[in-house]
Amino acid sequence: MSLAPAGVLVAEAAAAGRAVAAFNVITLEHAEAVVEGAERAGTPVILQLSENAVKFRGGALLPISRAAAACAEAARVPVGLHLDHVKSPDLLRQAADAGFGSVMYDAAHLPYAENLEATRSAADWAHANGLWIEAELGEVGGKNGAAPLDPHAPGARTDPDEARRFVADSGVDALAVAIGSTHAMTSRTASLDHALLARLAKTVDVPLVLHGSSGLPDAELAAAVAGGIRKVNIGTALNVAMTEAIRTHLTGADPRPYLTAARTAMAATAEAMIAVLN
Ligand code: G3H
Ligand code: ZN
Repeated sequence: MSLAPAGVLVAEAAAAGRAVAAFNVITLEHAEAVVEGAERAGTPVILQLSENAVKFRGGALLPISRAAAACAEAARVPVGLHLDHVKSPDLLRQAADAGFGSVMYDAAHLPYAENLEATRSAADWAHANGLWIEAELGEVGGKNGAAPLDPHAPGARTDPDEARRFVADSGVDALAVAIGSTHAMTSRTASLDHALLARLAKTVDVPLVLHGSSGLPDAELAAAVAGGIRKVNIGTALNVAMTEAIRTHLTGADPRPYLTAARTAMAATAEAMIAVLN
């Protein structure tokens, strides 16, 4: 089955009224576990590497992207390879040669006009290089360890009319929207603004993407998909599963027992969350 463009997977999910799960990969075990979970669920999945994960690798993209691509190529389900939350133009320009089919360019922290300008230029480059591109409008809080945004603060929610204009003027293929989720939550207690999601789904004519999905309970995730979300980004939930398993199995000097437990726990988490989205 192997490597498939994320844009195609999202379009197929949209046509079927489903969403594709996109999991953040930090280690090889993350990539192996996500593929295992998706194979068990029998659905396509996206492996995504964030700019932060690349920084964790000392700025080197290829060692981890090639490992993830190799896992994708060996998979029994279609697997997309996506570069996530890119701010660095230099990293963006490595995406095509490194085997990615898509990128998320993140200028959501900038004022509207600057976000639009930077995103339009990223979209022009991405399309010229055959890449599908996602951007963000209205900032989903909690990035890079930042405190969650006040949900009532300006910019903490995506305005539907602004979103429609942003998509038309930037040319992006998908839009990440701020509807109440927050990055890096370790408990699944958040809730979404479903009325706003309904307005966005009606107004914006590209697939909508949910970030910070680890903080949402199953019922909220399922309601998000029913409301029009077509790509669901999940990172922290895998890390919670991995770290809990390592804590439990950390004995002796051999890393294989606790890494095996970590991979098994992450695969179970991935499989369970994929099932909710389908
Ligand atoms: O782009 C990545 C995601 O938005 C992951 O967020 O770690 O809160 O699940 P999360
Ligand atoms: Zn995100």
